Amino acid sequence: MTDADGLRGKSVALIGAGNMGLALLEGWAAQDLVSVSVVEPQPSQRLQALCAAQGYALNGAASPCDAVVLAVKPQALDAGAAAAAPFVAGGAVVVSILAGKRIADLAARLPTQAVVRAMPNTPAAIGRGVTGAYASAATSVAQRGLSDALLSAVGGVEWVDDEALIDVVTAVSGSGPAYVFYFAECLAAAGAEAGLPAALAARLARATVEGAGELMRRQPETGPDELRRRVTSPGGTTAAALEVLEAPDGLAALMRRAVAAAKRRAGELSG
Ligand SMILES: NC(=O)c1ccc[n+]([C@@H]2O[C@H](COP(=O)([O-])OP(=O)(O)OC[C@H]3O[C@@H](n4cnc5c(N)ncnc54)[C@H](OP(=O)(O)O)[C@@H]3O)[C@@H](O)[C@H]2O)c1
Repeated sequence: MTDADGLRGKSVALIGAGNMGLALLEGWAAQDLVSVSVVEPQPSQRLQALCAAQGYALNGAASPCDAVVLAVKPQALDAGAAAAAPFVAGGAVVVSILAGKRIADLAARLPTQAVVRAMPNTPAAIGRGVTGAYASAATSVAQRGLSDALLSAVGGVEWVDDEALIDVVTAVSGSGPAYVFYFAECLAAAGAEAGLPAALAARLARATVEGAGELMRRQPETGPDELRRRVTSPGGTTAAALEVLEAPDGLAALMRRAVAAAKRRAGELSG
């Protein structure tokens, strides 16, 4: 069964269609298999056009759905849950992408215990995100499958079996795109310091990150360690740089500290 089959004939409500909600909606529209009701107080022109083209109900009457996706800002949880409730009656699973909101926070405000907590990341906007997800014990296998299919519309989905691990997912892939952008900035700055015109260094660094990412994507069976070894001749220039990056206080140590800091902060925000 493909993810698209998992959406066939399903009805879904989307509460909040800002950046992330709209990305999900565009992913579902591309699959053309799902009937959607959208609740959004300030619909953008893009949202209105998409709903009109797909025949999705926008701010219409609520009726029970198979799944409700909650995509409001975390601080709007109370209002979002109230808007979701009439769609939930009848046994829907609720999929929340609200950063820092725990299953217990969500279930306390919703007329169901079947809740999935998900953490997507920004490349979802181009269908290339990755989402970490955790399902409450009350979520059935079928409801988890439907949630997986809905989240898969914007990229890969990885399930964890301990809710606490969502904080680590947040620290690795949720915040991860910013680490990669910062890497590109640092590479450009180092290139400029070493003598390149700044704009040229920025272009080189950007294209390098883009190209290396694409190479990795096209070789899913090959680990990044192997890809790295293939471009590192003994005694060569790459080896000289990697010796610095691999030092005890090098990149691995920095990433460990960075991920630990993000994980700690995620725990504080959901606490
Ligand atoms: N962007 C990311 O990379 C990312 C990654 C992981 C998780 N998330 C999570 O995704 C959620 C949404 O983020 P976002 O960047 O998409 O935020 P956003 O662009 O602000 O979208 C939220 C939308 O929900 C609407 N809304 C507010 N109250 C509502 C209500 N009661 N009923 C229906 N809609 C309501 C907002 O409308 P108004 O503008 O009128 O308030 C807004 O259009 C957040 O909880 C965030 O933690 C985002």
